[in-house]
Amino acid sequence: MRHLVALSDLSSNEIEAILAIAADLKSKFQQGVREPLLPGRMMALVFEKQSLRTRVSFETCMTHLGGGSLMLGDDAGFGKRESIADFTRVLSAMVDVIVVRSKAHSTVEQVAEHATCPVVNGLTDLDHPCQALADLLTVREEFGGLEGKRITWVGDGNNVARSLAVGCAKTGAEFAIAAPEGYQFPKEFVGQLKADCPEALISETDDPHAAVNGAAAIYTDVWASMGQEAEEEQRKRDFADYQVNGRLMAAAPSDAIFLHCLPAKRGQEVTDEVIDSPQSRVVEQAANRMHAQKGVLAWLLGAKS
Ligand code: CP
Ligand code: NVA
Repeated sequence: MRHLVALSDLSSNEIEAILAIAADLKSKFQQGVREPLLPGRMMALVFEKQSLRTRVSFETCMTHLGGGSLMLGDDAGFGKRESIADFTRVLSAMVDVIVVRSKAHSTVEQVAEHATCPVVNGLTDLDHPCQALADLLTVREEFGGLEGKRITWVGDGNNVARSLAVGCAKTGAEFAIAAPEGYQFPKEFVGQLKADCPEALISETDDPHAAVNGAAAIYTDVWASMGQEAEEEQRKRDFADYQVNGRLMAAAPSDAIFLHCLPAKRGQEVTDEVIDSPQSRVVEQAANRMHAQKGVLAWLLGAKS
């Protein structure tokens, strides 16, 4: 039995396998075919934070695959009525896969430790592996491959950035991050990444204009993530020079695409002119959550296409 708690749980070959299943199922979906690879399987979603894309994409893809899903809200009492271990043992005795969006990364790790079915991270403070898989799928579709493609992250070295950096390292893409001092990746994270993937192409700078040079994709996310609301005003000041706007996009190759995991704070990390431009792929990227996660569910639950 496998879990997807962090993208670093997956080898390069496993990421390739998930993306291959995703691309195959997406192409069938576009031809009107919804292959019921997981008939009767049940997925439970346990979310401690808000979500549109993650919830809808998981529920939709499980339905397309012939299974069912249960969104467990506050009334299930996750982390409140009983221990996480008891909650998880009972839940995993009845469902086939559990998707957890938790405030602390250690919570999803705890669920994985006690579950008797696969557990998927639907976002924590440290990782957003399913987002990264959808992002890799999006870049691969756009450019026909990932090898040597530079993905430039402009902004906070947050959960989404970390998963994407790992995803790039494992697929031969280059990851460049432009962030102000104090918001770059922790040294231990970069050290671990290089230890796990000695061939990783990763660079860090505080200069967004230098970082977008040669980029295939420019990616940003909110400056204050869920749980960091109290820091929002300080972060607005700290990231003022890191907005992805027309001037920054003009410093990138003209065929570079713009990505954002969404939801976006328009006028802060990105301007309307960029997110609504022909270079923007944010809607396709969000829709790829559904396709990528079909790959995750089919791979984790051992369905054969
Ligand atoms: N990108 C993403 O995870 O969106 P939600 O927070 O809406 O799920
Ligand atoms: N970094 C953001 C991503 C939301 C999908 C957050 O954690 O709030």
